[in-house]
Amino acid sequence: MKKRVLSGIRATGKLHLGNYLGAVKGMLELQDSPEYETLYMVADVHTITTPYNVDELRKYRKEVVIDYLSCGLDPEKSILFLQADVNEHLELAFLFSSVATIARMQHLPTYKDKVKQYPKDNTMALLNYPVLMAADILIYKADLVPVGIDQEPHLEVAREIARKMNEKYKTDFPEPKRFETKGQYVPSLKGEGKMSKSVEGSYVNLTDSQDEVLKKIRSMPTSSKAGGEMSPDVKSLFDLAKLFLSNISDFEKKFKDGSLQFSQMKDELAAKISEELKPLQEKRKEIEKDQAHVDKVIKEGTEKARAIASETVLEVKQKMGLG
Ligand code: TYM
Repeated sequence: MKKRVLSGIRATGKLHLGNYLGAVKGMLELQDSPEYETLYMVADVHTITTPYNVDELRKYRKEVVIDYLSCGLDPEKSILFLQADVNEHLELAFLFSSVATIARMQHLPTYKDKVKQYPKDNTMALLNYPVLMAADILIYKADLVPVGIDQEPHLEVAREIARKMNEKYKTDFPEPKRFETKGQYVPSLKGEGKMSKSVEGSYVNLTDSQDEVLKKIRSMPTSSKAGGEMSPDVKSLFDLAKLFLSNISDFEKKFKDGSLQFSQMKDELAAKISEELKPLQEKRKEIEKDQAHVDKVIKEGTEKARAIASETVLEVKQKMGLG
């Protein structure tokens, strides 16, 4: 039997370069491997774990599917669906919550960051985020999860839940591993931290025009002068450039000998980013014209996902004494 792959992206907005390089590139690579059956969802239920706008969620859950298709995810090869349409994820998450302790969940860096960001919205849903993510993955008994490095703590929780369930209830969940891409950590455009949808000015959207990309890259801070020590913001620029420019070592040499012109490097980087985004943007325009096709992809994907998910939930309920 083929091994399974599961991944997802929250419906918090249009996809950005971090999502693309850290997750979607890995999703594409595995979709083309004959060894794997690939399932890719929109994590719309995870979107409600932090404050959100109802109309935007309604819009973006479909927009992310359109982004997936524009990037080359192919419904002939991958099962594409919306998490909320497969109720079984929520059911399994509740069953899993019986082996997940509050202390362990409170300890996670991702949880602490969100509580800091939204101190008034420290909800049960937020605390349960990793448990639901474990259910997303383990409901398909997936071995491999293409996600960025920031998701590693969540994968550790999924492995712990798999182990506990297997020990206690004799289930056969695999311990899922992260599938790494070259862009597993895409830096922010603001000079520190990672590119993130929740930090305004930190990201390039996949739909940004050539002018928008150029403007954003030109505005990246570069506080150290060429020739000296590399400041963190200059390091961020180089880390981003490494993902796009094949002649990066020339720029590094120039930085060291003091002859680097940041403006030239930024313009080359922006041009390369736009070159990579152009085919996706053209494909997006075509897909947007055929909304009925997108709806059909989602409907068919949901049916396939549910067929697998319902079997797992039935098995777990039986083993837990609930059926
Ligand atoms: P989300 O929407 O926060 O992120 C989606 C994916 O994009 C990756 N990513 C990045 N990768 C590299 N550099 C960056 N700057 C960057 N920013 C974001 C994230 O690592 C992620 O792969 N919890 C998931 C959603 C989810 C999920 C799942 C994923 C829910 N259930 C089951 C896999 C399996 C998340 O972080 O979404």
